[in-house]
Amino acid sequence: MQDQILIGGEWRDGADGARIPILDPATGEEITTVAAGTPDDATAAVDAADRAQRDWARVAPRERAEVLRACWQTLLDHRDELAGLITREHGKPIADAAGEITYAAEFFRWNSEEAVRIHGSIGIAPSGANRILVRHPPIGVVVMVTPWNFPAAMITRKVAPALAAGNAVVIKPPKEAPLTALRVADLLQRAGVPDGVVNVVPTQDSGSWFDAATAHRATRMVSFTGSTEVGRMLLRRCADRVLKVAMELGGNAPFVVFDDADIDAAVEGAMVAKMRHSAETCTAANRFFAEAAVAAEFTEKLAAAMATVKVGRGVDDGVTCGPMINAAAIESIGSLVTAAVDDGASVALGGAPIDGPGFFYEPTVLADVRASSPITRQEIFGPVAPVIPFTDHDEMIDQANDTEMGLAAYVYTRDLAKGLRTAERLEAGMVGLNRGAMSDPAAPFGGMKQSGLGREGASEGIYEFCETQYIAVGW
Ligand code: SIN
Repeated sequence: MQDQILIGGEWRDGADGARIPILDPATGEEITTVAAGTPDDATAAVDAADRAQRDWARVAPRERAEVLRACWQTLLDHRDELAGLITREHGKPIADAAGEITYAAEFFRWNSEEAVRIHGSIGIAPSGANRILVRHPPIGVVVMVTPWNFPAAMITRKVAPALAAGNAVVIKPPKEAPLTALRVADLLQRAGVPDGVVNVVPTQDSGSWFDAATAHRATRMVSFTGSTEVGRMLLRRCADRVLKVAMELGGNAPFVVFDDADIDAAVEGAMVAKMRHSAETCTAANRFFAEAAVAAEFTEKLAAAMATVKVGRGVDDGVTCGPMINAAAIESIGSLVTAAVDDGASVALGGAPIDGPGFFYEPTVLADVRASSPITRQEIFGPVAPVIPFTDHDEMIDQANDTEMGLAAYVYTRDLAKGLRTAERLEAGMVGLNRGAMSDPAAPFGGMKQSGLGREGASEGIYEFCETQYIAVGW
């Protein structure tokens, strides 16, 4: 198991020898520790990335593509081992963890195909005086701050396009789940990524680490996935050096069920949209708007489906929902449920934390939630589905859009035209129409409003990690 920091191809302890305790969220007990990086280590990592980047940028696109393809295969070859690490430190069921590795690896395959298609353009100036040649060189060194909910995929979604475009990266993995990140980096090196192109420095002191990494003159970009609150703070810090930013921030997804929907299909989609990866995704359905005529049926069937969820340790057979990440998460979920009930909602299923070691919460369905209830204002990040009945379509759309977030939304209807019209009116970067999942390396992932800046994946994803240079050519 890799438990040191990786700088310039070397594994070592942090400058002050400190270690980060890693807890198993299924028991609350310490599993192991990893080396903690200091601000000096962050600076050293940017130095190493800066040195490596120039050579990496000169490697022919086809050759870079082949290294990325080897990364895809290597991650898949180690899927079981990596899934085991994810389950240990994050807690999600082993099948979900294996699914995450397939998803994570796919970003390398997709971007190996994109690496040879970074197109510029050539045009003619309106005056006819010169040609306008546009190219897209790499940015340089990119600092990446990644979350604990997808310990592998949220790293590869950034690293693969960044490397495909010729950048080098310094990653701060989450302190709750750095083991997967370290092993992924190790495997990338074994697959042929040159020393210094990928550096990983876990830390317990995120603020000072970030300040040191972004103060370095070689750092040109920050790519962050995490909460909107932290994203705002990082944006302020990036402003001092006018760094380019890519931000994948929080969500508050509405899930709309019209009265003409196939209710069984809507429930199936709702289970995916809500419960994927133990309900700890930023695309998770957070507010279920069900048209009055079908609200009772939808709520009852959703509660029946939620009742079949087996909560437990991710390593155990048949478990479909693991623990939440820590005690604070249980407290936050509990206080949102209490506030919804105090506001008039009724509990159709669950509604309480589960006693015992570890951080578990019952799969919960709340009926007759008011659109203005506190639970609709905040990302729940837990297995709780609040159902809000609606009658007026326009009012429902206004309520669905009444949030600063705009990451994901879901719509269920048998009427495709109505579904598309509704999707177009929802202020969300991604809409699932009769689908409960939309994540795909080939699609542009990202949010509107305060859910983020930029897109990851698709053809757009690689250009996030490129500059645009225009050369005026006398012809
Ligand atoms: C996230 O929760 O940040 C990502 C979810 C996904 O990629 O599906």
